[in-house]
Amino acid sequence: MFPHTRLRRLRRRKMIPLLAETRLGKDDLIAPLFFDEGAADPVLIQSMPGQFRWPVRMAEEVVTRLNNAGIRAVLLFGIPSEKDEKASGAYAKDGVIQQVIRAMKKACPEMVIITDLCACEYTSHGHCGHVGECLDGPGLLNDESLEMMQEIAVSQAEAGADIVAPSCMLDGMVCAIREALDKNGHHEVLVMSYSSKFASSLYGPFREAADSGFSFGDRTGYQAPASNRLEAFRESELDAAEGADILMVKPAGWFGDIITDIKQIGLPVAAYQVSGEYSMIKAAAEKGWLDERQVVMESLLSLKRAGADLLITYFAEDVCRWLDE
Ligand code: PBG
Ligand code: ZN
Repeated sequence: MFPHTRLRRLRRRKMIPLLAETRLGKDDLIAPLFFDEGAADPVLIQSMPGQFRWPVRMAEEVVTRLNNAGIRAVLLFGIPSEKDEKASGAYAKDGVIQQVIRAMKKACPEMVIITDLCACEYTSHGHCGHVGECLDGPGLLNDESLEMMQEIAVSQAEAGADIVAPSCMLDGMVCAIREALDKNGHHEVLVMSYSSKFASSLYGPFREAADSGFSFGDRTGYQAPASNRLEAFRESELDAAEGADILMVKPAGWFGDIITDIKQIGLPVAAYQVSGEYSMIKAAAEKGWLDERQVVMESLLSLKRAGADLLITYFAEDVCRWLDE
């Protein structure tokens, strides 16, 4: 008790780093990247200042730059030049993402290549698999879409992906993907499941980034509602049982309780600081209302404190620079 106990003693300037309970390091970071098959040069994503859609020809250059900055893993999104009902571009041998993986592998074999495994950037309707009549009207068909996910997974693994990251929120997706990978000899490829993914308005800027708006409906029929903590836990618990190697919570910042819950399952947990979280910070910083660096570091530290092991963030490269300063 006061006056013997004084917590301010712990806050002497040189004590603070020594006593930090949580630390942020470059090893925690995963950088998401967009590659656009139709782009000749980098295209600035208006809603995400500082982020680009890269042309395929720049894959080597981008991965080398990130590697030099100290990033160990990238999460790849592809934008095909043509979309169709069957998402053909997602599992084409020469699809945008397959080309990028091969180029990156060659330029930088030590980089961990993670691929977003979904159909929504590749379908003409913008949904995450096959669509059809559901009880509530047109929607994403579950069992009918699993085979598509298997095909995408095998195609990405064949191109050289180290980790596939299914983000479609289909029931049974992890089981189906694990089975397909193993059957095709890819038992060393990991599955990082977007296991507790919420139907969130924070994905707004991503729609421009990945050109993945939908022609009808929304994703509330498959992504989890923000109101449900237990349901979100069950989502990750089931994916762990199905054989996921890494779990994920997405979005990150408003879902710290979910991260803490899911850490108890015992698998590594990734937190995805999504496009809307990025854009909000950028917008406020541009107006001079927030200190970008301080806010970013605080936001990421809070995710580690909640229990996240890995941080997927569009600020990854900036964080590396700040950690070096
Ligand atoms: C695709 C996918 C989305 C995001 C990552 N993978 C969009 C969505 O589910 O609607 C969002 C990422 C971000 O907003 O940064 N299924
Ligand atoms: Zn999707």
